[in-house]
Amino acid sequence: MPAFETHPAGARATEDGGPGTRWHRIYRRAVERQWDNEREIDWSASTEVDPRRADAWRRLVTIFHTLESMGLVVINEMANSVGRRVGDPSAPLYLGMQVADEVRHVDCLRRYLTKLGQAPKRQPLYDSLGLFASKGFARTENWLASTLFSENFATVFLRSSIEAGIDPFANQFFRSFLKDEARHVNFLENAIPDVYERLGSVRRGAVKVTQFALLRFAWMLGKRLDDDARAVGLDRRALYDEVFQRMEDQWRKMGFAGLVVPPRPR
Ligand SMILES: [Fe+2]
Ligand SMILES: [Fe+2]
Repeated sequence: MPAFETHPAGARATEDGGPGTRWHRIYRRAVERQWDNEREIDWSASTEVDPRRADAWRRLVTIFHTLESMGLVVINEMANSVGRRVGDPSAPLYLGMQVADEVRHVDCLRRYLTKLGQAPKRQPLYDSLGLFASKGFARTENWLASTLFSENFATVFLRSSIEAGIDPFANQFFRSFLKDEARHVNFLENAIPDVYERLGSVRRGAVKVTQFALLRFAWMLGKRLDDDARAVGLDRRALYDEVFQRMEDQWRKMGFAGLVVPPRPR
């Protein structure tokens, strides 16, 4: 099985969705790469965060846990309608696996926060990002677009945190998260063209406005994290720049350049 599936130009989801079809392969890849956070992580090992960085790191992980928890609530709400809109019987099967991935991430982060001496309490301000993704007009299209942002954000945050060497203990599961998030981006690179090929001008306008507001709001929230990011050795602005650059490249590759343009305030 290839590492990832690409959306063939002009391809549509199939009616039968059986073994050998694109969406069935995407589903099977997710099944084969499930991992068990109880058995595969050595939870008895100690965290190794530099005490001078610990407070800032606890606050950042609390926000990351909030975003993953919100993502889990929203994917649970959206999985049926997204599966239907993709139009392939294997798409809902795949989404069940993605729900399981996010369950694992939330479970790991709750446990990790407790180990860091922090109650895993969600932050309402960051929770509100989920509203953009699960409510209102064109909500399936908006969930797909919002998720492209959140999956890229998670990917770049995880990779940067591993590279900054903030906590070798967390790297054990951050590396596994990264593989899951790469699969989630690949899901979107297949689902967005399948759903957006029927996008009329009214829905297109709704996606443009909602995504502009979401990304502006996310940028403003991000600015509040500058000090904590710096304290643990992360560059918040460089992180956002990379996320936005990845998204622009992905939208272009999917054939929708200019539909979602991330803000780049200086
Ligand atoms: Fe996740
Ligand atoms: Fe994800």
